[in-house]
Amino acid sequence: MRKNILAPSILSADFRHLEQDVLEAVGAGAEYLHIDVMDGMFVPSISFGMPVIECIRKSTDCLFDVHLMIDAPERYIENFVKCGADSITVHAEATNHLHRAVQQIKGCGVRAGVALNPSTPLNVLDYVLEDLDMVLIMTVNPGFGGQSYIPQMTEKIRTLRQRAMAVKPSLDIEVDGGIKTNTIRAVLEAGANVCVAGSAVFGEDIRGKVESFLRIMEEYPEWI
Ligand code: DX5
Ligand code: ZN
Repeated sequence: MRKNILAPSILSADFRHLEQDVLEAVGAGAEYLHIDVMDGMFVPSISFGMPVIECIRKSTDCLFDVHLMIDAPERYIENFVKCGADSITVHAEATNHLHRAVQQIKGCGVRAGVALNPSTPLNVLDYVLEDLDMVLIMTVNPGFGGQSYIPQMTEKIRTLRQRAMAVKPSLDIEVDGGIKTNTIRAVLEAGANVCVAGSAVFGEDIRGKVESFLRIMEEYPEWI
């Protein structure tokens, strides 16, 4: 079953009190935690890695949705599973062997996702789509929180949902970047069901912001 799920991105949390921020978001009803790992090569910025994930794993049992913005991610899949990932998403642009990387993730017993940068066409998914649990459509260029939603991505989401209906109706479509209460309706309407939000969730009143997102998400059907 495909549910509508909110995945707060801890990239925008206050690391002075990461546990408190995480517990507030999860306590308000967020079902996934989106965890952005950046290597300073695939994307310009460097975020955090295994020790931080291992640490927050002790605070919650919600689903850890790890988004690897790193080159040759196949080098680290086992490590991320060991430190607590429940779902691992690799970028199609970051590996020469996407099919192998997907099989490696599945072989570790966690959910497998593939992310596409805004300019990457959907046809790179042609021979792996059926094996995936999730496709992440980047709705900004990856690397930083707080950027604006790229409007052309709405059509990309819609086309992917149509293609998935034919080959993998249970596919989760995740969107990441610039998701706010004024952009989320467009992505839900186009067929996304896992919504990442970083800067629009963390900061002041995390609980109130999670609840506002969840109220909007309830207006859209949960797909069977
Ligand atoms: C961007 C990251 C995102 C980021 C989203 O490269 O993948 O997950 O945290 O941040 P917002 O929601 O602020 O655009
Ligand atoms: Zn992300």
